[in-house]
Amino acid sequence: MALERIVKPWIRELEPYQPGKPAEELDRELGITGSLKLASNESPLGPSPRAVAAMQAELARVHRYPDGASFELRRRLAGRLGVGEEQLVFGAGADEILELLAKVLLGPGDECVFAWPSFAMYPIVVRGMGATPVPVPLDAALVHDLDAMAKAVTARTRLVFVCNPNNPTGTSVGREALDRFAEALPAECVLAIDEAYVDFARRADFPDSLAWVRRRPGTIALRTFSKAYGLAGLRVGYGVADPELAGYLQRARHPFNVNRLAEVAAVAALDDREYTERLQRLNADGIAYLTRELTALGFEVWPSDANFVLARGPAGVVPALLREGVIVRPLAGFGLTEHLRITVGLPEENERLVKALRRIAERTA
Ligand SMILES: Cc1ncc(COP(=O)(O)O)c(C=O)c1O
Repeated sequence: MALERIVKPWIRELEPYQPGKPAEELDRELGITGSLKLASNESPLGPSPRAVAAMQAELARVHRYPDGASFELRRRLAGRLGVGEEQLVFGAGADEILELLAKVLLGPGDECVFAWPSFAMYPIVVRGMGATPVPVPLDAALVHDLDAMAKAVTARTRLVFVCNPNNPTGTSVGREALDRFAEALPAECVLAIDEAYVDFARRADFPDSLAWVRRRPGTIALRTFSKAYGLAGLRVGYGVADPELAGYLQRARHPFNVNRLAEVAAVAALDDREYTERLQRLNADGIAYLTRELTALGFEVWPSDANFVLARGPAGVVPALLREGVIVRPLAGFGLTEHLRITVGLPEENERLVKALRRIAERTA
């Protein structure tokens, strides 16, 4: 069968998302064990012990479908965030919420504006619906250029993503800039503020996305349990939107998109404030350490409000690190051939990376 004749042309042309190389794969390639992966912005602390215990207690019930309404998680999270339960939409990762937004809002002829470089899934979900991605370059400091993004909005724009803090740069926009942008956005356009890294943001004027959810119909904040709650492997994320938008997303989702183990683990992780606070401290110290050491090695390092740092160094450093058994994220796919994104690890992992970089520098000196 000539599938290429019947598959949607925009799907044929999609480039699949390239996830970070698994540590096990590098182990096999190098014939070693213990490769270090600092490439996918996961928690270096492992999962919260409370989440593990909750999953263990739930294991004997996995023959039952999950609670499709995520009742307990919804109740707890709504209370924590001070929003209505009907404003929450859960997904298998924030990734699924991105897809739901595209499914609900976009089709051929529609446009979606986002910054670039930013999260690599944006163009994929937009193209996946046959719609047109409108990437707007970051400014010279690699921060969202919200004024340029506002200018890129047309009568065909149905969705705008603002990734704050931004992946892969770690940079963020402040309250004033976001307020000005949101204020001017046409009403027929959904504003999605992707806050996957919000729990790591430290700037005093970090925007209050939920205030915009309350104030502007057609606004959604996206969050995840993958980063600050240490549950990337379980796939739980959510959106907080006005009830009308949340209702449309609910209609479009699969009935059991958050599985049983993920739901109980997310509830337990939400209660484990000690875990998240420990991770936040570890992350702040790790960013300070990596910034200092990488700068001393001659790298340019960007300020980060996330759990990773963006650095620019000599070309070829990513493959050289791989040979040292350390996986970081290359950004060549964005046209940034000398940049790398490094996830903050445990102190000893950060030191291992720095030592590997020192050895590389000595060899090439
Ligand atoms: C900016 C951004 N948004 C969304 C996601 C997706 O997160 P999740 O693991 O919840 O699907 C990521 C994951 O890396 C991300 O970096």
